[in-house]
This record gives sequence, C-alpha cells and structure tokens, in this order.
Amino acid sequence: MAQSATVRIVNSKHLASLRDKKRCSCDIIIDEGLLAKGKITRFASALLKRTPTSCVVITDSTVHRLYSSVAVEGLSKIAKTDLILVPPGEKSKTFDVCIKILSDLAKLGLERDGALILLGGGVVGDIGGFVASIYKRGVKYIQVPTTLLAQIDSSIGGKTGIDAEWGKNQIGTFYPPAGVLIDPILLKTLPRHEVLSGIGEMVKYGVISSERIFSELERSRAHSSSDIGHLIEPCCKIKARLASKDPFDFNIRSILNYGHTIGHALEATSEYAISHGIAVLSGMLSEGWIARELGIFQVSDFQRQESLIKRLLTTNSRLDFQMQHERIVKFALSDKKNAGGKLRMSLPERLGKMHQNKKDGFKIPVSVDLLKPSIDYLKRVLST
Ligand SMILES: NC(=O)c1ccc[n+]([C@@H]2O[C@H](COP(=O)([O-])OP(=O)(O)OC[C@H]3O[C@@H](n4cnc5c(N)ncnc54)[C@H](O)[C@@H]3O)[C@@H](O)[C@H]2O)c1
Ligand SMILES: [Zn+2]
Repeated sequence: MAQSATVRIVNSKHLASLRDKKRCSCDIIIDEGLLAKGKITRFASALLKRTPTSCVVITDSTVHRLYSSVAVEGLSKIAKTDLILVPPGEKSKTFDVCIKILSDLAKLGLERDGALILLGGGVVGDIGGFVASIYKRGVKYIQVPTTLLAQIDSSIGGKTGIDAEWGKNQIGTFYPPAGVLIDPILLKTLPRHEVLSGIGEMVKYGVISSERIFSELERSRAHSSSDIGHLIEPCCKIKARLASKDPFDFNIRSILNYGHTIGHALEATSEYAISHGIAVLSGMLSEGWIARELGIFQVSDFQRQESLIKRLLTTNSRLDFQMQHERIVKFALSDKKNAGGKLRMSLPERLGKMHQNKKDGFKIPVSVDLLKPSIDYLKRVLST
C-alpha cells in the first residue's frame, strides 16, 4: 500500500517547519524564483529528509533547453546528478518510454537511496512518478512542475501513470512524491495555449469547490499567467485537501474529474491534437449540460459556466478536429469512474458545490443516451 497522501502548503520562508517531526508525507513549497536562486538544493534535501546520494533529473527536451542546467548545477553541489530526457508531449506517456527510462536509471546506477527530480509538465510528472513507483520497487521523487496545469494539479496527490491503447491514464499507481517545488516564474516561458490549458483546470476548481476562484476568472481580462498567478495557491489547497481526504480516489476525489469523462474522450479521439485543459473546458461544457438536463445544475450557474468557458475557448483556441460521436462514447465508457458498464460522472449543483447523494456519493449514474446530445450542445456553443 502506498504511503498516505496528506499534503500541506508550506510557506518557503519557514523552511524549518519542513523538518518538524509531524510533517506530512508531501509538502508543497511555492516560492517565486526558487530555481534561479539555487534553492532547489536546500529544499530537495529538506523534502527528502536527507541529502540524497545521487539524483536523476528527468525532464523533456523543451524544458531541458530552458531550465535543466540550473537544476542540475544546483543539485550537483550536494549529490552526483544525472539527466534523462524524454520527448515532449502526451505521446511520451507509453510503456516504451518507461522502459527506456528504467534502463537508463539502471545504467546510471541509481540506488534506492537516490532520488528522482521530475522537472516538467504533467507528462514528465506522470511518467516520472510511475517510474519512481516501480524502479527497484520504489524510489523517492520530487515534483518540480513547470506548466500551470502541473503546478496546480498533476504534481499534487500522487497519481502517476501512462496511457494505453484503450484509453488515457489506464495504467498507473498511487505513489505520492516526497514534495512539490513550485516556482511560478517558470510560467513566463509557457506558450499561451499551455497557459490556457492550466486555466481549464482552474475553472474546474472554481466549479467544483470555489465560487471565488470562478468569479476571479470571470473578472480577469487577459487570463495571463501573471494575472492569475495568485490563484495557484488556492487551487493547490483544493487539490491537496481532496487528495488527503480520499488518497485512492474512491469517492470525493472523483469530483476532480468533472469535465474529464468527456474531456479525456475528446483528447484521445483528437489523437491528442487538443491539450488536456482545452479538452477539460470542453468536457465541462458537455457534462455541465448533462447536469442541467438532469435538473442538478442550477440554471443561472450553468449559464455563467457556459459564458466563461465559451469566452476562453473561442477567443484563444480552435477545436477544429472532427468530433466523432461513436468514438467519443466508446472512450467515455472506458472511464475509470464507470461501474458495471454504466456511465458515472461527477456533476455540479452550483458554482463551488458538487452534487452528492446517499446511494451514489459523488459518482452520479448518467444514461449513455445523454452523451450524443451533450456533444451536439458543445458543438453549438463553439460555433456561435
Ligand atoms: N497525475 C495527475 O493527477 C494529473 C492531473 C492532471 C493532468 N495530468 C496529466 O498531465 C498531462 C498534461 O500536463 P501538461 O499540460 O503540463 O503537459 P506537458 O507536460 O505535455 O507540457 C506541455 C508543453 O509545455 C512545455 N513546457 C513545460 N514547461 C514549460 C515552460 N515553463 N516553458 C515553456 N514550455 C514548457 C512542454 O515541453 C510541453 O511541450 C496529461 O498527460 C494529463 O493526463 C495528470
Ligand atoms: Zn485534468
């Protein structure tokens, strides 16, 4: 059984608190400029509760060009440090890439008292975390997320994984990192569509848990990384709280999957041409429509969701792949929340609150017949 996923946010000014006896299994440190200021060394030792004998930084080739030399230089001061590169993008979340990383680690001679430092977006974090969980039956690792999506979501909570032919994230483990180091400055180099992808998950936090986050996103005009930087911490807190309450995703954590049943299906059927967050924004439109059809989602809040997501999607991106109903339905049915061949979704009641009932908890049964009209609704919204 993996260790518990209790998480807390630590103010980086209070590094001492990281060393207290009651510390959680995963601390999150948010500190502007931590990488450039060389703090990775100090924080890594504190999070690992020791100085590692050796470290391997795993990153993708894009992040490598931008940031890995600073990380490797810093870590080299305390431990033998090597580097493994993976190609950027979702297509790296495969067994082939995993096996390559595992054999590289063996060639580099990483022992169980060494550590992995995962520098990159959700792809590096997911595949690196999966490798950490199986290499020599588990080595410690630290997430250093470099995309907005990874900083507020994928680096927290210990879900690791790769994609399978039959669906996204279908192979994986629960294996929390020793800690997460978030440097918001790194987002300055993030392309606009990747910022938008992270905003997709921010909108999700707004709908599932915080009307305040949602209205701040409504108020923001530019939705740039500096505009919404102050929302990183509240989003991390929501993710950390839900992951701590339900580390193995049996009930309340499933609310984090709002928009993801249809979102994942859109992502996969587009052959990953659309980014995760854009798929989630689209998925929330469709799943929100289903919630309204079922009489669950308050109409005025459904309309607020429609207007914010429509603004984000139509002014920033194009969803110009063919949405094929049959393939989307097939993928949606393979979703992990489904039970007994029936479709289940987490659905909102109003902004900041998800629907729950005694029988189904947060996983509400949904008729497959509602999928097609929900995709038709999505198409209509995006074409007007
Ligand atoms: N484990 C979880 O709980 C969880 C949660 C949500 C999403 N995910 C997964 O996360 C993945 C998506 O993550 P992502 O959106 O971060 O994508 P990503 O890791 O593919 O990164 C997106 C792109 O941005 C580039 N990049 C990264 N940091 C950069 C920076 N600072 N400056 C410039 N370019 C940079 C990368 O090279 C890549 O090309 C998906 O596979 C999704 O399934 C996992
Ligand atoms: Zn997501």
